[in-house]
Amino acid sequence: AAERTELRERIKRLLKEREAVLVAHYYVDADLQDLAEETGGCVSDSLEMARFGRDHPAKTLVVAGVRFMGETAKILSPEKRILMPDLDATCSLDLGCPADEFTAFCDAHPDRTVVVYANTSAAVKARADWMVTSSIGLDIVAHLHAQGKKILWAPDKHLGSYIQKQTGADMLLWQGSCLVHDEFKGIELDLLKAEHPNAKVLVHPESPANVVALADVVGSTSQMIQAAVESDCDTFIVATDNGILHKMRAAAPGKTFIEAPTAGNSATCKSCAHCPWMAMNGLQNLADVLENMGNEIHVDPAVGQAAVKSINRMLDFAA
Ligand code: 13P
Ligand code: SF4
Repeated sequence: AAERTELRERIKRLLKEREAVLVAHYYVDADLQDLAEETGGCVSDSLEMARFGRDHPAKTLVVAGVRFMGETAKILSPEKRILMPDLDATCSLDLGCPADEFTAFCDAHPDRTVVVYANTSAAVKARADWMVTSSIGLDIVAHLHAQGKKILWAPDKHLGSYIQKQTGADMLLWQGSCLVHDEFKGIELDLLKAEHPNAKVLVHPESPANVVALADVVGSTSQMIQAAVESDCDTFIVATDNGILHKMRAAAPGKTFIEAPTAGNSATCKSCAHCPWMAMNGLQNLADVLENMGNEIHVDPAVGQAAVKSINRMLDFAA
């Protein structure tokens, strides 16, 4: 504990010295989330992280999350220096959608508007017409559908099919998935609901369809937290990375949050739903990057200039 306190103080001092700001996702270590808030940075979902980083005047952003979040920050602010605690923190959705295969898929369907999820590489975003996050994907696809557009969607098949069902849009889906959310189990969730008949079920739409079907609220991480705060209910079953519980409990004190069941849940494994790449962000490597100003994110400027168009379409739509 003493070591943690010392590291936290060192990070606060270094953030000031380096005139850097910390932008964190809800799935990272609780200490990092708290530090981001205490030091004038932000902890939020992917959409707000992008917007906050773009609008903040600091010349250096430290992104505690996974690689696509650092890349998005760099694409939106090429003049800023973007650092990450661990450059190997990736995402199964990004890994499962290589740019060359994705480009061939798009080329084979030139009649479709290409909409990609934020959890992709800069090169995939550069090939897309629109980038969306979980908080706004449904609204954007509904908008495109109303214009008569046919959609090519990548990479998350669960989010894609949820949006397809909700909007009725014609969507051709890439077959990627999030290795964390893919583990939530519908049958077990149904049993847990029966044990807690008054609980509301909050589900991230990267989860399988039979889990989403049991949800009272489907939304991004920020939307799930907001729902917990605003609801009259006092017990919630939460189907997303359990890193979110730290903020949920702080934002809605006195309420009870129960983790949704995954394949691995057991008496010995109470924390199965946790992204291994988000977990690569810690106090020590955060302090190290601030000390050395290392682990900088670079995006090929030509790729960045193409990718920024798809990101800005979303940000303009959201504004
Ligand atoms: P949001 O925080 O935008 O809902 O995204 C979740 C996610 O997959 C981050 O890995
Ligand atoms: Fe990717 Fe899933 Fe990890 Fe989010 S939780 S970064 S979608 S692997």
